[in-house]
Amino acid sequence: MDINKYRPTGKIGNKHFLTFLDYSTEEIFELLYTAKRLKAEHKAGVKHGALSGKTIALIFAKSSTRTRVSFEMGIRQLGGHSLFLSAADIQLGRGETIHDTVKTMERFDINGIMIRTHKHSDVEELAMYGTIPIINGLTDLCHPCQVLADLLTIWEHKGKLEGIKLAYLGDGNNMANSLLAGCTRAGMEIAIGCPEGYEPDQRFVEDAMKTGRATVTHDPAVAAQGADIIYTDVFFSMGQAADGKKYESLISYQVNRRLFAYAKPDALFMHCLPAHRGQEVTEDIIDSPASIIFDQAENRLHAQKAILYHLYGG
Ligand code: CP
Ligand code: NVA
Repeated sequence: MDINKYRPTGKIGNKHFLTFLDYSTEEIFELLYTAKRLKAEHKAGVKHGALSGKTIALIFAKSSTRTRVSFEMGIRQLGGHSLFLSAADIQLGRGETIHDTVKTMERFDINGIMIRTHKHSDVEELAMYGTIPIINGLTDLCHPCQVLADLLTIWEHKGKLEGIKLAYLGDGNNMANSLLAGCTRAGMEIAIGCPEGYEPDQRFVEDAMKTGRATVTHDPAVAAQGADIIYTDVFFSMGQAADGKKYESLISYQVNRRLFAYAKPDALFMHCLPAHRGQEVTEDIIDSPASIIFDQAENRLHAQKAILYHLYGG
């Protein structure tokens, strides 16, 4: 489906934002149209009160720059309050259950939880036991907030999503999983180029393969061939120890001038950040005019405001 021909209805059926596997193409397009509108209105100084009187808890069990700041600013811009909670400082970090945590939060009139954590099942349990909206701010399995911002960024730069080829090179991690689900739902093509043993999660691969627009290859040049977008992420995700074997496996997937040359002449470079220059990408690529990494970062704000806007009824 072509996003430019889609006519937004202002509605999505989901109560939470946990993974793109729960979202339809239409729902993703709704979020993208809302993000685009909220971004334009923000730049024009239009004020919104969609979260007026609401408090959203932001629970972090892992570090963050972009997710934390963009959620805090986005909630503020929508007239709400955020409550930053480091998982290490609340009882959750000492083993209190997800069930008891969400039940307690609701008694204090917390209206929603954004959580960044390790186990994806923790996010699912929050949604299962609680009655308030839950937003996934990254788990070991997926990072849908980032990919929603990425889709907005690609739409802005390429003017469309349908038929755009994104090549993801590197570790088959949470980013690879969410890109598989997000890009295929948006009508894009996606090629994952990853080493043997570092493939994305099977559920996301099977889901994406059904569309006929996804491939997983161990040859980085095959993945990059004719791509409109070259995307990469860190070799070692948060919570993973740096090990030599994984480094050796991934270094031939490094995005450098040689590999970038397989993409289209007007190809763009993307990275969710934080980046390690000289590891997954060379400086001459990430700091080149083809790189749109800070547009991606900015769009976290607008994409997440759209998620909040919809979950709280606009
Ligand atoms: N891309 C991303 O989620 O960045 P942070 O880890 O800084 O939040
Ligand atoms: N794969 C990375 C993404 C960081 C935004 C990680 O999980 O650390």
